[in-house]
Amino acid sequence: MFTKIRKLLTNTGKRYYFITSKKLGDFSVDKSGVIPAGLADSAKDINKLIGIVGFGNQGKAIYSGITALAGTKVKIICDTDPQKLSDARAKNLLAVDNLDEFIKNLNDVDLVIIATTAPSHIDILSKLLMGYNGKILIEKPLDSSLKKSVELSERLSVNESGRIFINYAKRHLPDLKNVKEIIKSPAVGRINSIHFSIGNGELAMITSHYIDYLKYLLEDSPAKVQAILNKPRQNTRGDQYEDNNGSCTFFYNSGVTAFFDFSSVHTKKDVQIFIKCENGYIFFDEYKGYILIGPDGMPPYIYNSLEQGTTKTSIQRVIADILAHDTPKNKCSFEDATEVVKIIYACHYSSQNNGIPVAIKNDFAEYSSIAELKYP
Ligand SMILES: NC(=O)c1ccc[n+]([C@@H]2O[C@H](COP(=O)([O-])OP(=O)(O)OC[C@H]3O[C@@H](n4cnc5c(N)ncnc54)[C@H](O)[C@@H]3O)[C@@H](O)[C@H]2O)c1
Repeated sequence: MFTKIRKLLTNTGKRYYFITSKKLGDFSVDKSGVIPAGLADSAKDINKLIGIVGFGNQGKAIYSGITALAGTKVKIICDTDPQKLSDARAKNLLAVDNLDEFIKNLNDVDLVIIATTAPSHIDILSKLLMGYNGKILIEKPLDSSLKKSVELSERLSVNESGRIFINYAKRHLPDLKNVKEIIKSPAVGRINSIHFSIGNGELAMITSHYIDYLKYLLEDSPAKVQAILNKPRQNTRGDQYEDNNGSCTFFYNSGVTAFFDFSSVHTKKDVQIFIKCENGYIFFDEYKGYILIGPDGMPPYIYNSLEQGTTKTSIQRVIADILAHDTPKNKCSFEDATEVVKIIYACHYSSQNNGIPVAIKNDFAEYSSIAELKYP
């Protein structure tokens, strides 16, 4: 039975998995390079310059990813904190403390990454759009203000929207792209329900990654959500930030149900995803690093995941996708990320009203009335 699902290593260094059984149909999964050595081959010699706003934990992790990505180089950093500026200068980087000065230095810059905390994202983006014509990658979540997110999404021109990307990196990771390939093949059939067991995580910080991933996987938006959230814990970034543990369920018009457990009953964060399909299931243990495919009537097939999704490796994939293509197929757009913000607000509205089902509407006036959220 195991011979029906074969692993092949080709001499190009690319690995493919094939399900060879006629019954299951054939599919192949591209596993090229565990970490991209650089941009696409054709762009290898190109030196792409990058500017980063925000040199905190994430900004520094992004910087270290870029230094390992051939064909790219950080030109300039902007941060309001003097300590972060000296950290950047210690790495021989040009570093400035205000956005106007930063924008003046962007003539030859191909990509600007906004890696500040969420409440500042849209304000920084709005200013950048006025003085900079290149590509912009924004850390997730898009912003903590639903109002600002929606207002800007309604004002963006096609050109502006086309050059904005949000760093919901799951869409760019080979293991999670492979899950989509398996779903598209006849191996296990269409999805009926999904359980995301996040462990002790937060709604905006961690769970929103998987909310966005579902949009990519299902190519659909939830019709309704229900949530029960706990009181937020103290945030390590400062008392001005709040993010909640809890659980929520999404209902899709297609009949798919998705359940997210990110409750504080767990002592640690460790993500598993269980996808129950019409003719079998897929189980992905993201932290232990393996994927199990269980087609009906066959023994389960297990393979090791290709890479641990650290920021350093995932940012390389995201940047390589953005810089090597005009619009990567798996792009998380401003509109996609606005929808995630909308869903986060809908979860809060549901929780504040004893877990009632809340429709994700276009005007969403109902739940936009709740106080502005303070997640980082
Ligand atoms: N993609 C991921 O997996 C991932 C992982 C961790 C964090 N993040 C996101 O990255 C963002 C940053 O998180 P962090 O942990 O680095 O926070 P942090 O507090 O460590 O760093 C934020 C930095 O931004 C600077 N800053 C804030 N407002 C600014 C402004 N207006 N202009 C210039 N600099 C400003 C601060 O001085 C600080 O140095 C958050 O939105 C977070 O959700 C994403």
